[in-house]
Amino acid sequence: MSFPPAIRRKFWGRDFSSPVMLASGTAGFGEELLDLQCLSGAGAVVSKAVTFNPREGNLPPRLLETPFGLLNSIGLANPGVYHVVKHLLPAAAGLPCPLLINVAGESVDEFADVVSVLEECSVHIGYEINVSCPNAAEGGAAFGVDPDVVLRVAQGVSKVTGRPFSVKLTPNGGDMVQSAKAAVEGGASAITVCNTFLGMHIDWETGKCVIKRKVAGYTSPALLPLVVARVWQVSNAVSVPVISSGGVSRGEDVLQLLAAGAEMVQIGTRLMRRPFAAGELMDEMKKLTGE
Ligand code: FUM
Repeated sequence: MSFPPAIRRKFWGRDFSSPVMLASGTAGFGEELLDLQCLSGAGAVVSKAVTFNPREGNLPPRLLETPFGLLNSIGLANPGVYHVVKHLLPAAAGLPCPLLINVAGESVDEFADVVSVLEECSVHIGYEINVSCPNAAEGGAAFGVDPDVVLRVAQGVSKVTGRPFSVKLTPNGGDMVQSAKAAVEGGASAITVCNTFLGMHIDWETGKCVIKRKVAGYTSPALLPLVVARVWQVSNAVSVPVISSGGVSRGEDVLQLLAAGAEMVQIGTRLMRRPFAAGELMDEMKKLTGE
């Protein structure tokens, strides 16, 4: 790798003028953003997670701002894969950049079942297999802590698609490097590092957790060094590209993650404050590197 890292990237055999991806949960299925300018500067969009059956999601509040970040407890709310295919993905054909579909499940088989249904669409270039949501199983547990389960999920997905897929891992317990290796053994074409960190907010006057499920997913620019370390560890351990997710608020953060070994860099919470963040980060990076 040369330094400073190049802004233009080659990923999954395609040329990307921007390394910035809109993380899952920030852009619906892309259709919500079509009329806006917020996709300018985005290299790709990752959809909200889709499961086989519709999910209502968690009771509110689902978002809670903290002084330095955001807690989320959406609970994989989505209308189910058949609705997504019929009603949401057709509009995503108008996206100016590639789409990856984030797929979640409650059992090893569900991931492959969802992907099988999505295979009838041509609108997306690949998948992000979400074995790491902290807001569905009790206590924030995620599939992705067990490398054997990750292996079986990846093998199942590999059997039903020829499209590339990334496996999105959890930072909450387990050994991310072992899970990443298992995902690659199962056929993954990238690793997303990583999902949100477990967080909690307790009302000290009542002792009650504000989020109904108690623990939630935490995102914050302060997590950048934690994500950089994990990107560095995983990218040195596997042969497939790493997509970073988390901690970005400035163009130099994206460049640091690329320097750590990420091929593409997702942004999430930043978009809540700055809907045009992708373009802003690109402008900052171009100024910093002269590219
Ligand atoms: O609550 C949620 O839907 C979060 C999903 C995720 O972090 O993958």
